[in-house]
Amino acid sequence: IPATIYESAADACTAVSKEIADVIRLKQNKGEYAVLGLATGSTPKKVYQELIRLHRNEGLSFNNVVAFNLDEYYPLQPDALQSYKRFMDENLFDHIDIDKKNCFIPQGDTPQELLKMYCEEYEKKIEAFGGIDIQLLGIGRNGHIGFNEPGSHISSATRLITLDQTTRLDAVNDFSGIAQVPRKAITMGVGTIMKARRIVLLAWGERKAGIIKQAVEGPVTEFVPASYLQGHQNAVIVLDEAAAAELT
Ligand code: F6R
Repeated sequence: IPATIYESAADACTAVSKEIADVIRLKQNKGEYAVLGLATGSTPKKVYQELIRLHRNEGLSFNNVVAFNLDEYYPLQPDALQSYKRFMDENLFDHIDIDKKNCFIPQGDTPQELLKMYCEEYEKKIEAFGGIDIQLLGIGRNGHIGFNEPGSHISSATRLITLDQTTRLDAVNDFSGIAQVPRKAITMGVGTIMKARRIVLLAWGERKAGIIKQAVEGPVTEFVPASYLQGHQNAVIVLDEAAAAELT
């Protein structure tokens, strides 16, 4: 996978938001939807800030945008403080002119007996909008993309998964204690992600350097789900210098 390295995360986020804005405008000119695959967590926050700035100061409209988020904790009420639904509203959707009816995030309060059907419908909804034009990804320290933890199959679809202990520990600061961190999540699959026409994985800081080396230069293996991106023909890894430090 090609890696693009910027001096700072801020520079990288400016470039990535410009790429997203270009996709949105190109589709606008054709009278089509732009379908964005979005991530939560600390990594993409500055991209969202820059998209908000482009909306406010440079007239970028999101009126043709459809957004599909990667994942959500399960079970979790959509209005919970830690929900990714709330994260997306607060960090992006509430500040732009996107139609909230076009914002899809797996629902953490889906009744258990409906989950299988719910996940299949999430996949179908993505397909109904023509598939994802550009998918943003972060990476977990264990190599997860979305919440596809090590062991996830390359052709996995949207499903309920069990979170790794490292993932739960990384989330502990958002909750009141480890016992409060949900044990499961709904996540788009690796297969769902791989169908996106463009994939942009972001990583900042030295704590991601080791896993970035494995994902980019190591073997393609289920033990590092991000390594599957090596098999995508239009994926890029966008790094700051600290996250790129271990690349040869
Ligand atoms: C979030 C997601 C996760 C995060 C990853 C990194 O929607 O899918 O894969 O991208 O856990 O999290 P941060 O950015 O907080 O380091």
